[in-house]
Amino acid sequence: VSAEKEVLITPEFEAEADTLVSHYPVSKRSAALPLLHLWQETHGHVSAQAIRWISAKLGLEQINILELVTFYPMFRQQPFGRYHIRVCRTLSCALGGGYKLFEQFCKATGATAEGGHGHLAHSPDGKFTVEFVECLAACGSAPVCMVDDDLHENVNDPTKVTALVQKCI
Ligand code: FES
Repeated sequence: VSAEKEVLITPEFEAEADTLVSHYPVSKRSAALPLLHLWQETHGHVSAQAIRWISAKLGLEQINILELVTFYPMFRQQPFGRYHIRVCRTLSCALGGGYKLFEQFCKATGATAEGGHGHLAHSPDGKFTVEFVECLAACGSAPVCMVDDDLHENVNDPTKVTALVQKCI
């Protein structure tokens, strides 16, 4: 979890969080996941501030919250880049070079894997997030990726990767 600017906690956010916590009168700990979802939906990703704030709200140790964030792949620990590259890793694409494709995109963008989750990588300039995803429904033309909303098939050559990245820069 990287150091970054803190977000303002609005009274509305606080009230919504308190309502969620009130749904778990027996064990406040059970409110941790709902609060993490709420934070991510509102603020985009789960920051160090999120972990501090949620643990304080629930009277838990920060490590209790952090372990949830690192366990569940749906939580983002860093903001997403300006461009979102999704690489399919389901069977046809895995066999057709999807893992290599992910590496090539990381190399071309300078993205490095987010702590705890090998399926997500961000470039330090904030421009790119490379993410492994499941089947993009174009299995016949593996390996397949998406750059934002555009699907690209048969991306089986590093020069194609370079061209796709260059187009974004
Ligand atoms: S397995 Fe990759 S698109 Fe279906």
